[in-house]
Amino acid sequence: MREFAIDLARRAGALLAEYHRRAATGHDFDTKSSPVDLVTAADLASDALIGEAIRAAFPTHAIYSEESVSGPIPQAEWLWVVDPLDGTTNFAHRMPFFAVNIALAHHGVPVLAVTFEPLTNQVFWAEAGRGAWLRSDGTERRLRVSTTAELGRSLLATGFPADRRTNPDNNLAEFSALERRSHGVRRQGSAALELAWVAAGIVEAFWHPRLKPWDAAAGWLLVQEAGGRVTEYDGRPWHLDSPTIVASNGQPALHAAILETIAAARATLPERDQNITGG
Ligand code: IPD
Ligand code: CA
Ligand code: CA
Repeated sequence: MREFAIDLARRAGALLAEYHRRAATGHDFDTKSSPVDLVTAADLASDALIGEAIRAAFPTHAIYSEESVSGPIPQAEWLWVVDPLDGTTNFAHRMPFFAVNIALAHHGVPVLAVTFEPLTNQVFWAEAGRGAWLRSDGTERRLRVSTTAELGRSLLATGFPADRRTNPDNNLAEFSALERRSHGVRRQGSAALELAWVAAGIVEAFWHPRLKPWDAAAGWLLVQEAGGRVTEYDGRPWHLDSPTIVASNGQPALHAAILETIAAARATLPERDQNITGG
């Protein structure tokens, strides 16, 4: 199962890399839920490749993949949760930072995760109970979260929701507060890779409102298996349809400081925007 998923992510990634190489001046794109929610031909081609391969290999399994599903998360014993291209805005502008993100959930809980970065040929993978690993240049290295416990010495990552132009609950208040209390906040444009960076100990934590299951499912397992902690903004454990996510190195003081800073920043929002319910 693990090698099937890694091979599949590599095949989809090779397809994306080929599209990326061929586009000299940027990719044509359409928009979805908002003017900043983009989709390209490469998203759709990768989605089709992954869907076909899973259906052929595991005909009884369900699939929840960004470009081919709508509606709630299917209740299935085995569910593949797939983002065929995470980082579409980067990709559409030819910025070289994007990933293929594949998770397999058993009764709604991710048990296998693969986050593949095609342009660096790095495979971040995790299996429940077997750790998180980076396969790169023919070697396999165990991933561990960092040990930094102070927010003031931490590097963080985040991103912004697709409705950010019109919704005042757009993460800018939280960004402003955490940027001033940390070593800085990176905003690289691929939640999947940023979560893998928490697992790899490159950044201490990542937070995001209204991520989709396909953005976060693989990263949840990577971070957990690397020794970190993943919750919602209120500290409850993260699950597949959680409306918010904070993934950290698990240091109690750091995780608590991030939750507190987010809560204080959100208290400045208009009251109706303070409770995120998904979307
Ligand atoms: C997006 C990226 C981005 C995050 C957005 C996601 P996409 O996924 O992960 O970093 O901030 O919320 O929607 O659209 O590139 O698959
Ligand atoms: Ca995504
Ligand atoms: Ca995507």
